[in-house]
Amino acid sequence: MSQSEKLLLQALAGHATARPPIWMMRQAGRFLPEYREVRATTSSFLEFCYTPEKAIEVTLQPIRRFGFDASIMFADILVIPDALGQKVTFQENVGPVLEPVTDAGAVARLSADGLQNHLAPVYETLKGLSAALPPHVTLIGFAGAPWTVATYMVGGRGSPTQAAARLLAYREPQTFQALIDLLVEATASYLIAQVEAGAEVLQLFDTWAGSLAPDQFEKWCVAPTKKIVEAVRAIHPDVPIIGFPKGVGTKAVRFLQETGVQGISVDTGTDMIWARETLSPLATVQGNLDPLALVAGGAELDRATDALLENFAGRPYIFNLGHGIEKETPPEHVAQVVRRVQA
Ligand code: CP3
Repeated sequence: MSQSEKLLLQALAGHATARPPIWMMRQAGRFLPEYREVRATTSSFLEFCYTPEKAIEVTLQPIRRFGFDASIMFADILVIPDALGQKVTFQENVGPVLEPVTDAGAVARLSADGLQNHLAPVYETLKGLSAALPPHVTLIGFAGAPWTVATYMVGGRGSPTQAAARLLAYREPQTFQALIDLLVEATASYLIAQVEAGAEVLQLFDTWAGSLAPDQFEKWCVAPTKKIVEAVRAIHPDVPIIGFPKGVGTKAVRFLQETGVQGISVDTGTDMIWARETLSPLATVQGNLDPLALVAGGAELDRATDALLENFAGRPYIFNLGHGIEKETPPEHVAQVVRRVQA
């Protein structure tokens, strides 16, 4: 099958497809018993991410079970701080825990020198997936956007307000800029290498973009994203990039005008009539089924699925969730949505 027959690539090229391509954020994960089985064989989550054989297997599981049109490689956004030399662990029922980077000295101690070596297993995963995926399935690589990764690096763990990183950005803008600059460089070279290993589309997760005040949003979300897009394009001009500036509301327009990404993943709170009228002319819209509608299932799930399909009929569109799959999700509900979208 030629590249152009892949639905996700067609949609990102701006074409309305006969039906939208469908994939789901966190499609590999704890909601699947077969994932939990493989996951249980490695105690450290990062080591699991760096074991290509296991990462390939859990990436393929949702493709086999549901027949998604795209496959997102299994890894995590926090492999970047790990590769830069920051101590990163994942703790059961807590999530990621990092040794916080809170001053200029700590930023200076980070280094991108060993980055490509450290991340080589991720590229092996992509190579294995390229060879193993069915021909109609598009392979997606990804990274965290600098702002979101920095919130974990500075705060040391997830936080509802991202206060630690926002405060550092106000109090020590030069220190924070140095951290963002390092992340821009590291993320761009990581994504470029992903394309060389077989990624056909890239997604940049900026999960916490919504906590930034408008001028801060320009500085720490839009500008770094634009630099990464330019750096990737300079080497791989044709690879489509999807941005996910979660929670930014109407600022998504600025984001698209400035960064030049081909796709935008919109969160559950986004009005999809507005997205169709305002964002669709600028980029291919992806989203935004509520992950909790997917947990609930039933007729309401069909209704929500149909509403999205009708809203975007005749336009380039990628069916997805507004955020990642919840671990309580019954797999049968995922199958229900895939069947309906692909019917
Ligand atoms: O989407 C996929 O299937 C690909 C794999 C993927 C994971 N994380 C695997 C994972 C992707 C694309 C991510 C992105 C990611 N990681 C984001 C951005 C998107 C989002 O969800 O907001 C963020 C903020 C992270 C950081 C992260 N990783 C957190 C906060 C946690 C703990 C919370 C949780 O859900 O457990 C993780 C762990 C993680 N990453 C798991 C998985 C499947 C669960 C851990 C496990 O299986 O032991």
